Amino acid sequence: AEGDAEKGEKVFKKCKACHQVGDKAKNKVGPELNEIVGRKIASVEGFKYSKAFIAKAEEEPDFVWDEANIDTYLTKPKDFIKKNKMAFAGLKKEKDRENVIAYLKTFSKP
Ligand code: HEM
Repeated sequence: AEGDAEKGEKVFKKCKACHQVGDKAKNKVGPELNEIVGRKIASVEGFKYSKAFIAKAEEEPDFVWDEANIDTYLTKPKDFIKKNKMAFAGLKKEKDRENVIAYLKTFSKP
């Protein structure tokens, strides 16, 4: 189902401890998430990704974040890419994941 971006903005509060989006977004604990839907994994200049993320990007050079794999990642970040350094338990509710992805899509080019 399509998520609700407005509800997703509220869900994104859980991500804000580490991630920024929008015009002035900078890398913090996590990389900025502008245009994350459609972006290559581990591709933000100047962000120090974990070995796990770098290895994934090298092993799967065509890996691009899309709605489906972001949903899987957010369900249980530690399971999707072993030993990645995103210290976040995940979003258990499917609706929360759909909504936050809809919100992130508002920061992607059409
Ligand atoms: C990476 C989303 C919460 C820290 C990522 C990536 C996405 C993402 C899509 C991959 C970025 C890329 O490949 O460039 C989210 C969302 C969150 C969330 C939607 C909330 C629902 C958090 C929190 C933290 C965090 C709370 C810090 C405690 C990180 C870090 C990475 C990362 C450090 C890089 C992982 C690595 O290099 O192993 N996040 N994140 N994230 N996130 Fe999050």
